[in-house]
Amino acid sequence: MIAAVDPGSYASLAAVPVDHLVPVPDAVGLREAAALVHDAVTALALLDLTALKAGETVLITGASGGMGTLLVQLARSRGARVVGVARGAEKLSLVRELGAHEVVDAALPDWPRHAAAALGGGADVVLDGVGGALGAAAFPLTAPGGRFSAHGAPTGHGFATIPPEEAGRRSITLLGIADVQLPPARRVSLATQALEEAAAGRLRTVVGAVYPLERAGEAHGVIEGRGVVGKVLLSV
Ligand SMILES: NC(=O)c1ccc[n+]([C@@H]2O[C@H](COP(=O)([O-])OP(=O)(O)OC[C@H]3O[C@@H](n4cnc5c(N)ncnc54)[C@H](OP(=O)(O)O)[C@@H]3O)[C@@H](O)[C@H]2O)c1
Repeated sequence: MIAAVDPGSYASLAAVPVDHLVPVPDAVGLREAAALVHDAVTALALLDLTALKAGETVLITGASGGMGTLLVQLARSRGARVVGVARGAEKLSLVRELGAHEVVDAALPDWPRHAAAALGGGADVVLDGVGGALGAAAFPLTAPGGRFSAHGAPTGHGFATIPPEEAGRRSITLLGIADVQLPPARRVSLATQALEEAAAGRLRTVVGAVYPLERAGEAHGVIEGRGVVGKVLLSV
């Protein structure tokens, strides 16, 4: 069994209501399940929220991160054309391997120009998991009438701030972190769906590093250092 703990915490034991528990299928390891229980739930919710459809184009920033690696796969399996933004050759190669049609290196100063070329006529959906200046630079890549989700802020410079009047002028729907705060029953349902996808071999978790609970500080350090691809887990 697995459950998301609300509010989030690091602990070897936690009490959760029994109806928040989700059975982990035999084909899925507990570490894999831990990598999915939060990130895949949000990823599935984002794809539902933005109503990403087959044939649409999606731009995913932070594509090499814990949630980004899942978004790339889930968007691809919905039949979307996926353009992933990540930093450096190793991360870009992983993002491509996970199903991105095109990848763009965020380390290039003119990455938005490369992304615009990869997108063709702009992105129907932008899933911004990075925020700050990078998120702001991703906004103009949204096609008129598209959807832009500013749900990530790992840079420490906040979520992408988009002037609502600019979005309105181009008929772009702005979405944010508040739109993916889910009630427990929906979290359980999406976690069950994610675990089924993983058990069927359709959703791969990328665990970049595992640290014992007592070394949680080091785990934070490697996340901030951006040297790890995918998810960093703590083990107890
Ligand atoms: N996971 C969830 O369920 C969830 C739910 C709601 C919101 N969010 C938010 O969504 C964002 C992404 O989540 P995540 O779980 O994928 O996080 P993550 O595993 O830490 O990945 C974040 C990605 O952002 C990129 N990044 C760009 N600039 C960065 C910087 N200055 N510092 C650190 N990373 C930077 C990194 O990729 P490169 O090095 O390749 O650029 C990294 O792969 C986070 O802000 C998180 O709070 C996550």
